[in-house]
Amino acid sequence: MPTIHQLRGLEILDSRGRPTVQATCTLASGARATVSVPSGASTGAAEALELRDRDPARYRGLGCRRAVGHINGPIHDALAGRAFADQAALDQALIALDGTPNKARLGANAVLAVSLAFARAVAAERNVPLYQHFADILAGTPNAALRSLPRPTINLFSGGKHAGGQVPIQDVLVVAASAQSMDEALAMTAAVFMAAADLIRDRYAMRTLTADEGGLAPPFAGAQAMLDDAVAAIRAAGYLPGHEVALAIDVAASHFYHDGRYHLDGDALTPAQMIERIRGWLDTYPIVSVEDGLAEDDWAHWPALRAAIGGRALVLGDDLLCTNPARIRRAIHEHAADALLLKVNQIGTLSEAAEACRLARAAGWRVTVSARSGETEDDWLADLAVGWAGDQIKVGSVTQSERLAKYNRLLAIEAETGLPLVAWPAPE
Ligand code: PGA
Ligand code: ZN
Repeated sequence: MPTIHQLRGLEILDSRGRPTVQATCTLASGARATVSVPSGASTGAAEALELRDRDPARYRGLGCRRAVGHINGPIHDALAGRAFADQAALDQALIALDGTPNKARLGANAVLAVSLAFARAVAAERNVPLYQHFADILAGTPNAALRSLPRPTINLFSGGKHAGGQVPIQDVLVVAASAQSMDEALAMTAAVFMAAADLIRDRYAMRTLTADEGGLAPPFAGAQAMLDDAVAAIRAAGYLPGHEVALAIDVAASHFYHDGRYHLDGDALTPAQMIERIRGWLDTYPIVSVEDGLAEDDWAHWPALRAAIGGRALVLGDDLLCTNPARIRRAIHEHAADALLLKVNQIGTLSEAAEACRLARAAGWRVTVSARSGETEDDWLADLAVGWAGDQIKVGSVTQSERLAKYNRLLAIEAETGLPLVAWPAPE
């Protein structure tokens, strides 16, 4: 049984230059692993609490010394010398030690770093690849079968909170629908990205500055211009929109929903009008996935959104669900969504995220495994997406090393396993 010898935390910087948490777990066997956790900007209200120092004199209050101190102090003190039968046992111990419903005492950043560092150390001790260990954790049995590689959905254009807020829609993503391999999907996406960079240089006379996740962020006139330019870039790269390359969008609607209205492109839309707007986009553009089309607390209208677009595009819940089993159960019961955006740090332990994944699967939902806007060079997310057979992976653009670390790891896993890419979306 894996026995924890030592837990150590370290404050490091994420891709936005903000502090985040790294943890190193050493087992009694000598196996040792380090993990860095990411951090979001477009955070759902129901997310587990990321503990920050709130000292305005340091990183504008965003320091993580308290979270790191919790790893080196109370978490190490409580867990060192103890053996854990499996990941669930370790995570239960962390949850009990924290004692709050949202990990507010120790910090979800500290708790998740330890949860993941333990998983990676145990994989090393077992001498199995991390993706296999993740598959085994989800299945609850060793040597669980691996199914497929996730199809990447890759940021082309950014707006919302990731790009200074000049257009409300947070992401327009490229889906290499006809790609037969990860390698081909990345090459196709890179071609569309380069075509889009040329196009916005011509159209907006601006250099190709990128947003937090590496998406291009010119001053689009509105959502429609953003989508028109995406289709133009697909064509300019030589692909047939919809057949070879499709689009996914993260509307991140919580951020422009106030007083019961969606404030989009100068309009104040009722929820019914917002649903009609999205349906109109689906009629015009090759969109195969719509994330957070409505706000996280607009539960009353999500079933109507799903009824309007389900089957044509994924009705994907991010802020709505927050990788939270209780919220996912409610969404299944109310037919509010049909796909889960899975971000491990929204819930704070690997076991709880696995439960979220199992619930979504049991309901027949698709699962998109997602990075955060504040990422690190760590690549464990690629292993998680393969081990948990994510249908999609959403990591950001093909331009920044904290994103490419994951894509490069997927290429290595593809070469090692020969797994096929998920068949999604269905060919038209
Ligand atoms: P976040 O955004 O990491 O800033 O929360 C990602 C998303 O909304 O999908
Ligand atoms: Zn989102």
